Amino acid sequence: MSAQMLRHTLDVLKQEKFLLECDREVDYVYEMGAVLKHFDNKRPILFNKVKNGVMRTAGGLYGDREILYKLLGVSKENRNARFLNALTRPMPYEILSSGPVKENVAKRNVDLMRLLPVSKFQEKDASNFITAGVLVLKDPETGRFFTSIRRMQVQKGNVLSVLIASPKLTNDFLEVEKQDKPLEVAVVFGYDAPFLMASQYPSATYGVDKYELDSALRGEPLQLVRCETKDLLVPAQAEVVLEGVMVPGKRELEGPFGELMGYYGGQAQHPIVEIDALTYRNDPIYQTAFPCREEHLSNGLIREMELFYFLKNQVDVVDVNVTEGGGYRFNAVVSVRKGKLGTGKTVILASLGLNKDLKQVVVVDDDVDIYDPRDIEWAITTRTQAAKDFVIVPGALGSTLDPSHGLRGMTDKLGIDATKDPERTELFERAAIPGFEKIDISKYFSNTTL
Ligand SMILES: Cc1cc2nc3c(=O)[nH]c(=O)nc-3n(C[C@H](O)[C@H](O)[C@H](O)COP(=O)(O)O)c2cc1C
Repeated sequence: MSAQMLRHTLDVLKQEKFLLECDREVDYVYEMGAVLKHFDNKRPILFNKVKNGVMRTAGGLYGDREILYKLLGVSKENRNARFLNALTRPMPYEILSSGPVKENVAKRNVDLMRLLPVSKFQEKDASNFITAGVLVLKDPETGRFFTSIRRMQVQKGNVLSVLIASPKLTNDFLEVEKQDKPLEVAVVFGYDAPFLMASQYPSATYGVDKYELDSALRGEPLQLVRCETKDLLVPAQAEVVLEGVMVPGKRELEGPFGELMGYYGGQAQHPIVEIDALTYRNDPIYQTAFPCREEHLSNGLIREMELFYFLKNQVDVVDVNVTEGGGYRFNAVVSVRKGKLGTGKTVILASLGLNKDLKQVVVVDDDVDIYDPRDIEWAITTRTQAAKDFVIVPGALGSTLDPSHGLRGMTDKLGIDATKDPERTELFERAAIPGFEKIDISKYFSNTTL
């Protein structure tokens, strides 16, 4: 069996000295989230002792860019090509007869809060929420597997409500609901970075089987086993799998919940999932994610790939950063090698039109570090004149996660062309110190710890 899923990831994180282990007992109501938030959800943490003796829990796993690149075996330079390759060359997955996730099976009296340390994170959250579970379902027509993270509110006993903002899943569910049929689903905990990344490719846009995408990303077949009670496949080495159905004709009130941008979302009626079986490894590890911007890095990386290749058709794009401050979806910074006048404006038009969520884009030359907010501010300050370089598009479609427009889903969009004038480049030469990069500063201060 290949080394896949969270157990293997924890070994790697330990070897690389990224993993923090917490041996003090932690309450999964508020306290666990507070510890994760202290590290901005960028430090992988394994909580070895969770209140009430329920499962150990891992969090903060995939919120740091450098750690995620390492776990995926990609670099800043080749990541977009690697993510695109997986999409264009999906690979077959492998079905095993059994695996560690089948070490324990529970089919009777499923009580989710007794079995899982599902966190309550924020003061006004309606109740406890599953935030890192990957929902698996099979397309009723094509038999392809689709995965995505959806937050799920524990309603009672074995009942979850599920927040779905997906054209594909919504349509699939409404279709089977019309026939008064349940839609079989599984929820996976204890996955690794390729499994997470595959789940974040938009399903309706590409229609690719996410398990085949995952196999291509990891460079070997994803190993799967059959569910106990559902006609679905799940990772053989996952920690915990819930098996259940989305129930036709039923909705429950969901929310409020502190969302990714740090505001409480309102209440609404959402579909429910009834869980009727659970499988899990010996000494299982539950997986959680503090609901916040940092946790959406994987989603932002896919948006970067899409924007990068969309722009590449038109301009000499160098790199794209869909930024953390904008929840990895609202704001982008694009660097270009500027050949012609008009390049900056073309990037603005293309970027703001690619995705309704993208609200603000800044375009810079390739001498600006698009991951350094200070460098971006410097470029905007010294390379723009607002009247000619700022583009405002009033009243376009926007995200409902942005309260600035009153949650009506209509937003103004802003593009800033902070590229230098190609006909006046002499004005924009950055002052430089010869040999600056080569200075070894420790040689100058031998008696001080630097
Ligand atoms: C940490 C995290 C939490 C997410 N929570 C939700 C959610 O509650 N509801 C939702 O519809 N999408 C959520 N998403 C986004 C979906 O998982 C993502 O859009 C999905 O990959 C794409 O599949 P789709 O095209 O079927 O939506 C979340 C993503 C991440 C990374």
